Amino acid sequence: MPSIESLSIRKILDSRGNATVEVDVRSGRALGRAAAASGASTGAHEAQAFPAGGVDEAIRLFRSQVVPRIKGRDVADQVGLDRALKELDGTPNFSHLGGNVATAVSIASAKAAAALAGKPLYRFLGGSSRPTLPLPLGNVIGGGRHGIGGTTIQEYLVVSQGPTVQANVLANARAHRLVRDALVSKLPDVPLGRGDEGAWIAKVTDEEALGIVADACKTAEQETKFPVRPALDLAASEFFADGRYRYRDRALDVGEQVDFVERLVRDYGLFSVEDPFDQEDFDSFAELTKRVGDRCKVIGDDLFVTNVTRLRHGIAAGSGNAILIKPNQIGTLSDTRAAVDLAHKSGFATVMSHRSGETTDNAIAHLAVAWGCLAIKAGAVGGERVAKLNELIRIEEQLREGT
Ligand code: PGA
Ligand code: ZN
Repeated sequence: MPSIESLSIRKILDSRGNATVEVDVRSGRALGRAAAASGASTGAHEAQAFPAGGVDEAIRLFRSQVVPRIKGRDVADQVGLDRALKELDGTPNFSHLGGNVATAVSIASAKAAAALAGKPLYRFLGGSSRPTLPLPLGNVIGGGRHGIGGTTIQEYLVVSQGPTVQANVLANARAHRLVRDALVSKLPDVPLGRGDEGAWIAKVTDEEALGIVADACKTAEQETKFPVRPALDLAASEFFADGRYRYRDRALDVGEQVDFVERLVRDYGLFSVEDPFDQEDFDSFAELTKRVGDRCKVIGDDLFVTNVTRLRHGIAAGSGNAILIKPNQIGTLSDTRAAVDLAHKSGFATVMSHRSGETTDNAIAHLAVAWGCLAIKAGAVGGERVAKLNELIRIEEQLREGT
């Protein structure tokens, strides 16, 4: 079996201007290269992106500990590689090596193995299963940790459900443009900015923002003649304090928050609602799922952190019906896949996701296709976002042409 002949690492920029890592894995003539993203609204239970000493310490540990342990391994043995990374780290959350180094090594190795096999990553990882294309969820208005002065809710998204990924990507971008036009006419002469994920940042209340997005969806729907629905990622842990959800214009107790989100789902026909409650509140997730789970995906991101133990608990409690999947929340490709497999086995939908601090790495597009994710959250516009969306369009073309 071909072995990993060399591994190297470099410090690069992410889209927020923070340093992150990119790893090269070489085997024979194949090169696998992967870069790790970083979140801003990170869950309390997710892998720690970098060790206490930061990116420089992560790079030092990579060279002194990871390379000697991984070099020479069979490049096709992904499970063994991922186990070795976890053993080497020795902590439950990758706080020694940093989850971002582990993620980059794990995905770079998979890319090298795919290249050696002469297959695109989605085919290599998908095995014999039929590749399916995810629905893109595009972020059009944002706030929270992703934009100063914006809404309390972190993400207002659109989900186009047309005949092709290409049509959906274009329709999401169209909705993004329609939202801009609506904000400009609502707030004339006020500068309009964009947040970390390319969504518009504007000084509007949360319900005003949702109204604007819902209207843009209707217009996009009339133009395209296919369904375009709104969705939310509240990232509610970020504004939950002392038992209340603190919006700019109101503070809601836990019961009121359940009622509020239920009303938004019903009034606006939301496709999905992510992290509507604090990351420890499995009960409220279960209550909301009971009320609206038949019509809406209730997605756990900070709740589950791509972790099978937390997901198992959520499945048993009925806390949600979908999970957000972020490879660097858990640190290895094998553990990411385990979360996807458990979700699908249990009737939960999966949504592959970018981070707010991204790179142009497009691996998540391949993972979403390989593993049959229902949807992918990769933004609507912006270079590091369209890197994934355009890759999905290319994959769709390959599948259509049978190449
Ligand atoms: P993050 O946000 O990448 O800043 O964690 C994305 C999300 O909450 O889905
Ligand atoms: Zn989220």
